Amino acid sequence: MSYERIRLESLKDKVMTAEQAALLINNGMVVGSSGFTKAGDSKAVLPAFASRAKSENIKITLMTGASLGHDTDGKLAEAGALSKRMPFQVDRTLRNKINAGEVLFIDQHLSESAELLHNKNLPPVDIAVIEVAYIDRDGSIVPTTSVGNSVTFAALAKQVILEINTAVSEDVYGIHDIYQAEDYPYRNVIPIVAPWNKIGRKTIPLDPSKVAGIVFTNMLDSPADIAAADPKTTAIAKHILAFFENEVLLGHLTDRLLPIQAGIGKVANAVLMGFKDSNFYDLTMFSEVLQDSTFDLIDAGKLSFASASSVTVSADCYQRVFGNLQKYRDKFVLRPQNISNTPGLIRRLGIIAINTAIEFDIYGNVNSTHISGSKIMNGIGGSGDFARNAYLSIFVTQAASKENVISHVLPMVSHVDHTEHDVDILVTDVGLADLRGLAPRERAQKIIDNCVHPDYKEQLQSYFNRACERGGHTPHVLEEAFSWHLRLADTGTMKK
Ligand code: COA
Repeated sequence: MSYERIRLESLKDKVMTAEQAALLINNGMVVGSSGFTKAGDSKAVLPAFASRAKSENIKITLMTGASLGHDTDGKLAEAGALSKRMPFQVDRTLRNKINAGEVLFIDQHLSESAELLHNKNLPPVDIAVIEVAYIDRDGSIVPTTSVGNSVTFAALAKQVILEINTAVSEDVYGIHDIYQAEDYPYRNVIPIVAPWNKIGRKTIPLDPSKVAGIVFTNMLDSPADIAAADPKTTAIAKHILAFFENEVLLGHLTDRLLPIQAGIGKVANAVLMGFKDSNFYDLTMFSEVLQDSTFDLIDAGKLSFASASSVTVSADCYQRVFGNLQKYRDKFVLRPQNISNTPGLIRRLGIIAINTAIEFDIYGNVNSTHISGSKIMNGIGGSGDFARNAYLSIFVTQAASKENVISHVLPMVSHVDHTEHDVDILVTDVGLADLRGLAPRERAQKIIDNCVHPDYKEQLQSYFNRACERGGHTPHVLEEAFSWHLRLADTGTMKK
């Protein structure tokens, strides 16, 4: 075992197996774990706890940065080991348990969990499980491929289990910028005025007396599944790039644009890849997750710097970046998620935020989380932190799906994550609607003209016309507002 990765001598006798560490987690505990969209998650202790829960009646409340990798959320859910989960997940098994009412889920803005813990608005964390590259001589810890909420867990948890992942090079030292704002009422400004500003320390402070166990692992993060661009994502990317080009022509933006935030998934990747062959240059990102496209743009000389809370990339890209840190270390930084997603910084830096919707309505309200109003998909993630505070808030989705039986542009969304007030631009593969400066009736007509799939255009226009006959600032035919979702459930299509 690589004991040299424990540089504080007094902690060397804390080494144990994952199974022994899992025994430190008791029924009913609140557990805080590292892990942000698969990156830097617990790879041994939480899976060992899931194995324990198969034969014991033990359940925990689990808080993380965001989703976990290696099916850990699925294993925990399958074993009945979770009573409550927050703030984000993407696992199919866990999602089914949440929708069946067997696991309680709090879908939380990713910037907020740490704040809520510091402000004592959530139950205290009993034990934290944090993946690290190594433990420094003063007991402080060097995180791996994400920072997430680990700074807060390390500060507030009563006990801490550390997973030292020897698959991650100790060279990651220096890629993190660890800063925590003061508690209220003494909070000062967070001194970031550009994505590349580093304002904190390189390691996470930790009181060594809280370390209850140290476990060695040697396992890479679960790789991101990068779906290839398809005609729809390519069309969406083209509409957005044409829009940016026009904004430059109008003098609203320069060829450097403004710092970009891009949500996870194939649309975000396709949009970012679209910059590769464009005239834009010296781009920057102020985002929460960095995907393959970020590093492709760095290599192409288009992107100068990226700030986020995690790196979630394919296996190839992982080797390219973490096997070559001397090349990339001054090109990106990983921050705690309550800093990467701070509303005040997003507003100050003038972020261009691009996120994905499940559906949106004729007035521009966006549903990013629920299928037909009730069933959670993943969660709001950071999309709310960015959308409300961005310089430009863009949402994308396909116009229709599943052989066009589902329209993603609707009379009224079945769940609201982002209200019309937070949404500037809507884009589908059909086209782009720029809603800035438009009143609700103008927004509706623009969305119908530019974004709706041809199969649904007449149907949506008819709804809007009849709604306008009834009057109102935001006209609706309430008894019909959800009829498209109901028709899909009853007949298998939203088409009349
Ligand atoms: N009824 C039934 N199914 C519906 C539906 C409806 N009314 N509306 C949408 N769907 C289905 C789609 O058909 C699709 O199904 P499939 O997966 O079987 O193909 C699915 O819902 C949505 O998937 P897709 O359109 O492929 O979206 P995606 O994989 O790009 O993910 C989100 C979209 C919104 C789920 C995802 O981006 C997300 O979780 N966003 C919230 C978090 C976030 O934005 N984070 C950003 C900061 S990182």
